[in-house]
Amino acid sequence: MEHINQKKQNVIISPSILSADFANLERDIKNVESAGADWLHIDVMDGHFVPNITIGIPVIKSIRHITNLPFDVHLMIDNPDKYIESFANAGANIITFHYETGVNIVETLNKIKSYGLKAGLSIKPNTKAEEIEEFISTADLILVMTVEPGFGGQTFIQKCADKLPYIKSKQNINQILQVDGGINSNTGDYCKKMGANSLVAGNYIFNNDNIEFAISSLKQFPNK
Ligand code: DX5
Ligand code: ZN
Repeated sequence: MEHINQKKQNVIISPSILSADFANLERDIKNVESAGADWLHIDVMDGHFVPNITIGIPVIKSIRHITNLPFDVHLMIDNPDKYIESFANAGANIITFHYETGVNIVETLNKIKSYGLKAGLSIKPNTKAEEIEEFISTADLILVMTVEPGFGGQTFIQKCADKLPYIKSKQNINQILQVDGGINSNTGDYCKKMGANSLVAGNYIFNNDNIEFAISSLKQFPNK
């Protein structure tokens, strides 16, 4: 029983640097690393797929040598297939792209894997989980967006998390089910109960007075 509970507590926390202080990025990344973060979530936006522009390849290259955390790169860009090699060379460990981009999903997932990286597929709030059923077995990670992608600090949309049990039922034990958007200790608990084993959080972690507490509160598995 204890063994089962221990397994349940194994939640991967991926702080989103979109909410970090970019003038002090190295300091903020080292802070989350020492506070117990498992991965570092890097939101790449192109102003086309989403109405915002954030960080890209040069920044990823620059921060690669200041931390050992795996880079969990969330591509919110059109034509993600064209940029896989660049993000792989920049130091990405996980690359997640969006189903709604209309690229060839299996080819793109396999291209990511061909660089030895984990391949993730993400869906926006209005995309049904059933639409990606055929791709779940190929993806190492499924990312269920719990806000409309584009900005940090938005409010969690609960009905998005209700897609989790279906996806979980189609995954095997080694696959990752991640949520992103409006995650705090309460919404994180809800997602874990629904089957998520990886939580992305930006605002809740970086704007918390106690980063270590914020990360450990997300890691804990709810009792019921
Ligand atoms: C939104 C991004 C998120 C965002 C999460 O499009 O994909 O990763 O940074 O930020 P919070 O946790 O503040 O909602
Ligand atoms: Zn993200």
